[in-house]
Amino acid sequence: MNYSLQVAGRSCVVVGRAAEELPNLLPQKRIIVFTDRTILALHPELFAGREVVCMEQGEEHKSLQSVEMLCRELVARNADRSTFLLGVGGGIVTDITGFVASIYMRGIAFGFVSTTLLGNVDASVGGKNGVNFDGYKNMIGVFAQPQFVICDTSLLATLPPRELRAGLAEAIKSGIIGDATLFELIEQHTFESLCRDEELLSRIVLHSVKLKADIVSRDEREAGERRKLNLGHTFAHAIEKCTHAMNHGEAVAVGIDLIAQIAHYRRMLPSTALDRIHALLLKMGFEVQPPVPLEDLLKALTKDKKSDGNNIHVVMPTDIGRCTVETFTHDKFAALACQSLCLK
Ligand code: GLY
Repeated sequence: MNYSLQVAGRSCVVVGRAAEELPNLLPQKRIIVFTDRTILALHPELFAGREVVCMEQGEEHKSLQSVEMLCRELVARNADRSTFLLGVGGGIVTDITGFVASIYMRGIAFGFVSTTLLGNVDASVGGKNGVNFDGYKNMIGVFAQPQFVICDTSLLATLPPRELRAGLAEAIKSGIIGDATLFELIEQHTFESLCRDEELLSRIVLHSVKLKADIVSRDEREAGERRKLNLGHTFAHAIEKCTHAMNHGEAVAVGIDLIAQIAHYRRMLPSTALDRIHALLLKMGFEVQPPVPLEDLLKALTKDKKSDGNNIHVVMPTDIGRCTVETFTHDKFAALACQSLCLK
């Protein structure tokens, strides 16, 4: 069964099979597909007869250099304003494809087939596109909506367990910020049973996409409510800046656990909810101890891109399915984090 929803009134997200949906969604135009070598090798059926450009893999290639290389490739292939860019891959492929499409000839149309759980539940949906810069995550980029995103959970069968788990961190985040049913759905399973159940994964994706579609439709450019989607990301981005030992989802899991402890310390989050968050992260196999000293994380997060001058917007969970965004000065947040976390 395929489901489709709209984001911001103009981007269609389909949770379903790419092979079935692509012919209906692709325009009758010249299509150039951006992907990486792993996806090309794993899912050749998605590329048959298409013009394909492969990008380098890995977070270190989510860079302006890759954008430049891909723009050069488009010029060499005489791509013009009427060309449609299709990004097939995980969050790195879709972030870069969306950014290149948004700037090439001042913007050409684009769409995605998302091939990872992290892409399905977060990265490929909502119109954030961009690259890292000087060690800062997603520092250079644009808001631009893809015409469509296909979240194909059948493609997740080839995903390494570590990557699947990373996506689960963002789904757990979605449950905490606004969908208690989603949180309970994940709670009822083990990581191993979840990995094998495509139907269940589709339900998890659908819940996450619905929540994100609603939030983004109300606040596309992150002036307020969209900040909620950054639960756990204040610490996660700091972790990713300090070390490559964790992938994004793993860092988000640590960040969620830390911020839940802080919210509990401030009496905003009941003990039962804190315990459930902690227990679910452990049950799904996440490491919840920060991989670097807290002082290093606090130093790194003063450079978080979500900070606003000397202020930082932090998402505090207040229950399973509820959260609030608070603004702190960096110093005040660092002091609060030290009180709540260091003195244990
Ligand atoms: N990943 C957070 C957002 O799309 O706003």
